Amino acid sequence: MLVLIKLILLVVSALAGFASCQDLSITYNGFRSTNLSLDGLAQLTPNGVLKLTDDTKEQQGHAFFPNPVSFKNSANSSAFTFSTTFVFAIVSEYPTMSGHGIAFVIAPRRGLPGALPSHQLGLFNETNNGKPTNHVFAVELDTVQSKEFNDINNNHVGIDINGLNSTLADPAGYYSNGNGVVQNLTLASGKAMQVWIDYDGTAKHISVTLAPIYAGKPNKPLLSLPNDLSPVLNEIMYIGFSSSTGSVPTSHCLLGWSFKMNGVAQGLDLSQLPKLPRVGPKKRSKVLTIGLPVILIASLSIAISGVIYRVRIKKKFAEVLEDWEHEYGPHRFKYKDLYIATKGFRDKGLLGSGGFGKVYHGILPSSKLEVAVKRVSHESRQGMKQFVAEIVSIGRLRHRNLVPLLGYCRRKDELLLVYEYMPNGSLDRFLFEQHENTLNWSQRFRVIRGVASGLFYLHEGWEQIVIHRDVKASNVLLDSELNGRLGDFGLARLYDHGTDPQTTRVVGTLGYLAPEHTRTGKATTKTDVYAFGAFLLEVVCGRRPTEPHPPTEDAILVDWVFSCWNKGQILEAVDQNMGLNYVKEEVELVMKLGLLCSQSEPIARPSMRQVVLYLDSALALPDLSSLGISASGLSFSSQEGFGDFNLSCPSSMDKPFSHASSSVAESLLSGGR
Ligand SMILES: *[C@@H]1O[C@H](CO)[C@@H](O)[C@H](O)[C@H]1NC(C)=O
Ligand SMILES: *[C@@H]1O[C@H](CO)[C@@H](O)[C@H](O)[C@H]1NC(C)=O
Ligand SMILES: *[C@@H]1O[C@H](CO)[C@@H](O)[C@H](O)[C@H]1NC(C)=O
Ligand SMILES: *[C@@H]1O[C@H](CO)[C@@H](O)[C@H](O)[C@H]1NC(C)=O
Ligand SMILES: *[C@@H]1O[C@H](CO)[C@@H](O)[C@H](O)[C@H]1NC(C)=O
Repeated sequence: MLVLIKLILLVVSALAGFASCQDLSITYNGFRSTNLSLDGLAQLTPNGVLKLTDDTKEQQGHAFFPNPVSFKNSANSSAFTFSTTFVFAIVSEYPTMSGHGIAFVIAPRRGLPGALPSHQLGLFNETNNGKPTNHVFAVELDTVQSKEFNDINNNHVGIDINGLNSTLADPAGYYSNGNGVVQNLTLASGKAMQVWIDYDGTAKHISVTLAPIYAGKPNKPLLSLPNDLSPVLNEIMYIGFSSSTGSVPTSHCLLGWSFKMNGVAQGLDLSQLPKLPRVGPKKRSKVLTIGLPVILIASLSIAISGVIYRVRIKKKFAEVLEDWEHEYGPHRFKYKDLYIATKGFRDKGLLGSGGFGKVYHGILPSSKLEVAVKRVSHESRQGMKQFVAEIVSIGRLRHRNLVPLLGYCRRKDELLLVYEYMPNGSLDRFLFEQHENTLNWSQRFRVIRGVASGLFYLHEGWEQIVIHRDVKASNVLLDSELNGRLGDFGLARLYDHGTDPQTTRVVGTLGYLAPEHTRTGKATTKTDVYAFGAFLLEVVCGRRPTEPHPPTEDAILVDWVFSCWNKGQILEAVDQNMGLNYVKEEVELVMKLGLLCSQSEPIARPSMRQVVLYLDSALALPDLSSLGISASGLSFSSQEGFGDFNLSCPSSMDKPFSHASSSVAESLLSGGR
């Protein structure tokens, strides 16, 4: 009897023991008084949070229920139904990065020896990943996309069987009970979320469900996988969690856990769960945690903005200075000085634009000298050395009828020329724009003689011949005493240099361009004389060399003056705005000289030396009739292709033009100054 009672007790206790093992049920609303098996970084905080990792990089942490759990009866029987739920939070120090994740794991041992941190999640290593001998089942909450495991993204939930190549994975989210639409969740948001993992041992089906804390369990699981875990799970297994960090310091926290074998896990009492810990492992004073970073960031940004400012300033004032320029040192201006002088090249200081660029008024900071700064776009380096040599040598020229060139400055794609400021602006404004304030004859004659003198000086008064290339009323400036001064000398040359002789490019202004200049592309002193002739007629007649609208017989000034002369009435062509108070002989002289200079045959034109003598009456002007000058001998009558161009030219004839197509010249040469 005693034996029988003993036997019954034994059976009952054995049954009880068996039952307790088989139908394990644990519920942890916080981990304060639990007896989990921890390794690695895993630790319990005083308020009961299970921290699988702290912010130590490239480490792992495990937490296992200490007792073995029976998952099936024998080696070949089916795995039991089980269910578990837990609340977790992944708290990263950085808002957009974290690493690596948390996994619920069922493993043969209490721990995962040989496993690696980082992307291996503390579950596997390179050699055993994917091997059926692992007998590991896991559900990963992965916040890093590991391409070597075919991860779908950096925020997913996956079912892992014996390896990290998930059998099934989906972006973190949940199906809302209302409309069944997937709501995205960010695992590493630092917010608490709840997970449910259910295995139906009869249906051989795994489901994984995720939801924000307090949302309740969605009806439809996120992952639903028909899979028999019987071959994966041993009779005796251990349950727990694994987590790992990579290079981003991240705290992986568990707040509560419930597990039930052969049944549904008991729900967690969310109100009892511990509060999430602050980010960062150690307590620092507020001065250090907030003040110090603020100070550091502030001083760093000040330093960075200082560097950026300096780089900007440096770039803003960057110049091009080549070795060969050092001999021109005294003629070199600092861009910064010009920038200050012109108050940043503001539009208010714009004196004029067109020709070869915009001209700005300025006052040099050191000398307080008034200057005009011309900005010339120049993309090509070709001929720059020669050009600078020329303008610097011209800069050394001192003549009362030349606008003094004080110096230059070079920048990338840009040349800046600094001239003395001419308070009365350009002559063409007096001729064509201010009829009530126009110049009288003696003023005009003085300007004409001055310009002749200046051009003669360029041609013969200097050790080298300087060809102006763009003589016209708009390039003649008036100083305070209304003396005419030639400006912009040689600038056209910048665009003549280095071009392929096959593609002749002519830069100058239509109506002032000698026919042979447009034909050969070669500027000579005689082409300057031709332009000067057009200039003479312009000043006397108060008209531009050509008037395109309307294209009448009188449209071409030189033709008109010639026809007036031919009729014996040359004074008909005189500018009406000038009044009648002029010296008839002087006016006639200038007009005849204009015709003389306008001859299409260069050899027939006088030199500037002769021009000066004629104007001074030191030399008698030859009789035009005896020279056999005829309409056909004047350029515009002989056309040279000008007729077509003339009629098709859309705007004012002061518009400079480029004979051959050239993007540089065309873009620059728009609108006369
Ligand atoms: C905790 O579990 C370990 C391992 O199973 C055991 O040795 C220890 O006695 C347990 N401690 C408590 C307080 O239950
Ligand atoms: C399981 O194994 C036992 C022996 O260990 C055997 O008798 C039984 O037939 C097996 N059942 C299945 C379904 O394989
Ligand atoms: C991988 O892990 C297994 C245990 O799961 C261990 O035996 C093996 O040595 C590990 N391999 C490496 C390369 O660490
Ligand atoms: C995991 O996926 C990667 C990438 O497709 C593949 O190279 C590797 O062989 C897979 N490993 C296993 C164990 O399936
Ligand atoms: C959810 O995330 C997926 C990418 O994972 C994206 O395609 C989808 O537009 C997102 N849905 C919402 C509602 O933000």
